[in-house]
Amino acid sequence: MKDVWGPFGPCAARMPEGSLVVVDRRVAELHPGAMAALKRRRPRAWVSLQAGERVKSLDTVARLLSAGASLPRSGTLVCVGGGTLGDVCTVTAHLLKRGVALIHVPTTLLAAVDSSVGGKGAVHVTSGSWVLKNGAGVFHDARETWLCPELFETLTSRQRREGATEAWKMVACLDAPRWRKYRRHRPGLVALVRDARALKAIVCRRDPHEQTGFRRVLNFGHTLGHVVESLTRFRVSHGDAVGLGMVCALDLGRRMGVTPEAVASEVEQGLTEGPGILGREELGRALRGHVVSEASALLAQDKKVGPSGGLNFVLLHRLGHAGVHPVPPRALRALWLKWQRAERP
Ligand SMILES: NC(=O)c1ccc[n+]([C@@H]2O[C@H](COP(=O)([O-])OP(=O)(O)OC[C@H]3O[C@@H](n4cnc5c(N)ncnc54)[C@H](O)[C@@H]3O)[C@@H](O)[C@H]2O)c1
Ligand SMILES: [Zn+2]
Repeated sequence: MKDVWGPFGPCAARMPEGSLVVVDRRVAELHPGAMAALKRRRPRAWVSLQAGERVKSLDTVARLLSAGASLPRSGTLVCVGGGTLGDVCTVTAHLLKRGVALIHVPTTLLAAVDSSVGGKGAVHVTSGSWVLKNGAGVFHDARETWLCPELFETLTSRQRREGATEAWKMVACLDAPRWRKYRRHRPGLVALVRDARALKAIVCRRDPHEQTGFRRVLNFGHTLGHVVESLTRFRVSHGDAVGLGMVCALDLGRRMGVTPEAVASEVEQGLTEGPGILGREELGRALRGHVVSEASALLAQDKKVGPSGGLNFVLLHRLGHAGVHPVPPRALRALWLKWQRAERP
């Protein structure tokens, strides 16, 4: 995996002719110059897609496989978009001709700091009336990633907040000195992206296929974050849901005696003042009207339930250190009511 930083034009010149290009429709509208640069490289096929969780489906994979059917095995898929396009393109690149080269061009901050590193791609699967988040997926490393800051200029403040939340998450779990540095001076966008990619790459090198458990540390905030996404039917989008999920994980850590109070409050405050996560009011709004058994059912499908029926969560031990812990269902039940009422435990 190689990171190529710079203006879009010179990056586009690296694209092999005859590639399959998949672009986020909104990005295509906002960055016509970038699209023209790609077209000059004579792509074999061009698909523009509406981004969002709905695009992460087997239907989209089927559509992209058809579009890329004439690519040779040595072909390349270039994905220009955020994490949702990145995920569906990763699955497609893995399947097309038993695996073609993949170039990620992350256009959201979230994709730049997180989803375009580490080779994971997934689509959602429906199970009964619920959508099972990332129910089917692959590991397929990108050959290279182009990081072009000009593409981020059109992001909204919410999109920036969501990406920054994932970046600060990595720092909280993995790098205490950097956390303290961030608390003294909020990092700019380029530093945030560089730091987060470097941290995630270290983790993924140690546990590329999530087998030793080390990579699971990156799931801090994601277990209940995914529940928030599902229960709100993605009204609360991924990065914001992870922000709320981290607040929940800090509370669970407090309750289990794993996260010292001082660490939990420092991290909650840091996430509020740094990336600016949504607060407990929003958490209450997301969970109100839902009983805890709905969350348990989602967690069971999400394979977060251990053999004894207990739930597994990534909890923070101290700044820069986290691990997976079993949490008894009663701990979740007790906190659920507090979260619904937007109370601090
Ligand atoms: N594979 C992984 O390791 C991994 C890691 C983290 C997250 N993810 C996945 O990433 C997804 C979320 O990614 P996301 O937040 O990028 O969502 P997204 O792809 O839906 O993009 C969010 C919105 O931003 C718009 N957009 C994209 N680039 C833009 C730009 N430059 N300017 C203005 N608007 C732009 C899109 O059109 C879309 O409306 C989730 O599905 C999550 O599961 C995957
Ligand atoms: Zn995430």
